[in-house]
Amino acid sequence: MSKIIISPSILSADFANLERDIKRVEDAGADWIHMDVMDGHFVPNITIGVPVVKSIKKVTKLPLDVHLMIENPEKYIEPFAKAGADILTFHYEAVNDVPSIVDMIKSFGIKAGMSIKPKTFPDEVLKYLEILDLLLVMTVEPGFGGQSFMENCAEKIPVIKRHAPENLIIQVDGGINAQTAKICTNYGANSLVAGNYIYKSDNIISAVQSLR
Ligand code: DX5
Ligand code: ZN
Repeated sequence: MSKIIISPSILSADFANLERDIKRVEDAGADWIHMDVMDGHFVPNITIGVPVVKSIKKVTKLPLDVHLMIENPEKYIEPFAKAGADILTFHYEAVNDVPSIVDMIKSFGIKAGMSIKPKTFPDEVLKYLEILDLLLVMTVEPGFGGQSFMENCAEKIPVIKRHAPENLIIQVDGGINAQTAKICTNYGANSLVAGNYIYKSDNIISAVQSLR
């Protein structure tokens, strides 16, 4: 079985102590750092932007997995790539021309990811799997940490997997804990984002390890 990529979401970390909280998940064996960018338009919440990505880049060697929950993502690919994003994931629902935004991301030598919201059918995106590095299946409505996992969203994973090239990373995000992680990896996901489960636990090391 291939390795599961664990990407803790710093949305649930202490924003006054981001460096400390990133070190904690690094020490626990996390693979990537998931950073949730929200614009108050595509989702009803506002979080972080380019300057935070730029600062975090200086304090970790882990790849920065940047999840853009924003309208007009094409306007922001270049600044996020230059700030140090290693994986840049936009939302399918926010763009008109998927191939051109994927090309734009790849032109910076980084991985291109695309995410689908709970109500988006997997069939709509099958034709793009070939050009993507990562497909993110949201298992909650994007916008907030700490929501409950929706299993019917995870049921999209086998559909994606059946049509995906061997090397496509299938990531899930929303309500992931030790139990729901198992459901998703059994369905074929190989990257797990988790915020609350990791950062609100008493033992970050065992929380991260319990996802594998
Ligand atoms: C939600 C974000 C998630 C969020 C996950 O819109 O995309 O990355 O931080 O948080 P949990 O793991 O708490 O559901
Ligand atoms: Zn996310």
